[in-house]
Amino acid sequence: MSRAAVLAGVGAMVPPRAVDNDELSQLMDTNDQWIRSRTGIGRRHWADPGTATGDLAAVAGERALASAGSRSVDMLILATSTPNQLMPATAPEVADRLGLGSVAAFDISVACAGFVYGLATAAGAIASGIADRVLVIGADIWSTRLNPQDRTTAIIFGDGAGAALLRAGQPDEPGALAGFDLGSDGSLKDLAMVPGGGSRERSATEPVPETDQYLYMRGKEIFTHAVNRMGSSSARLLERIAWDADSVDWFAGHQANARILHTVADVLDVPRDKVLIHLDRVGNTSAASIPLALADAASAGRIAPGDRVLMTAFGGGLSWGSAALTWPRIQVPGVLSS
Ligand code: COA
Repeated sequence: MSRAAVLAGVGAMVPPRAVDNDELSQLMDTNDQWIRSRTGIGRRHWADPGTATGDLAAVAGERALASAGSRSVDMLILATSTPNQLMPATAPEVADRLGLGSVAAFDISVACAGFVYGLATAAGAIASGIADRVLVIGADIWSTRLNPQDRTTAIIFGDGAGAALLRAGQPDEPGALAGFDLGSDGSLKDLAMVPGGGSRERSATEPVPETDQYLYMRGKEIFTHAVNRMGSSSARLLERIAWDADSVDWFAGHQANARILHTVADVLDVPRDKVLIHLDRVGNTSAASIPLALADAASAGRIAPGDRVLMTAFGGGLSWGSAALTWPRIQVPGVLSS
């Protein structure tokens, strides 16, 4: 029988500082009622100055290892678009901090779809025999890239990290990743981006606008693409793995906006009470959002062993991806602040 990647542990964290909608409304022209009704977000957590993405990733990784009851890892994949620095990648530093020795460690940059891409990359490495145990971490600190003048991004994004340990196992055992659907459309890269800091940055002889360091997003267009891409990707995956929509116990979609999640669930014919909502407490945590939502629901006993879980994510790139698994019997700690 072929080798499959099986979920062995999950862990997640958000930094301690909670920023509620009322606090934001003192910084910019917005209010709690607008944010809640248009996004579903009530608060988010922002990292303190001096805290980097790798710091959050190491805590989430540690919790996933504890959840799995083993520190044996031979590859670490960190999905992030907000690395500690441009070079080198942050993953080797996280591996070192976790005491994993000289494991393969690398970053992948797929914005909010990064965790699903990380799972797919890990599953491929396990299926091919390149690795037996892969720690996949999704972590981002977007709070340092938010333009305080831009109320469409500043209200949405929060910081956090989530991790999953995958081990080699059998395709028919609980926790085995059942399949993937991945895609991208680079012709729409301008819909969400940080223009500065890369090799396309304007010549140093010309002044670089301060706003180039910030994330900008064309919210309405992103909203429409998010609904279409997460819906079609999920539908393709369900068909590929022969799961009926009504057999899905939990829809774990990327936590950007509750209206997006409910619309995708409607399109798929998945009842709204099966949609995992965690963004009310943490906002959009980008690559961390799906493992954070899973850890939150599993630690609270909402997701139970044997439940079918459909994950789908969408973000800048444009990039999207879906994955599915039947939940295994694992201990998952709550989503705690560091
Ligand atoms: N507080 C108060 N009012 C706001 C506001 C805020 N934070 N942001 C926008 N508004 C105002 C606008 O100025 C506009 O006012 P007007 O009608 O007088 O012109 C009105 O609210 C509607 O703005 P609009 O941009 O159409 O809002 P929206 O319903 O599209 O919501 C987002 C904006 C950003 C919440 C929404 O588009 C969204 O969630 N997009 C997807 C984000 C996403 O998925 N990101 C993940 C991938 S990167």
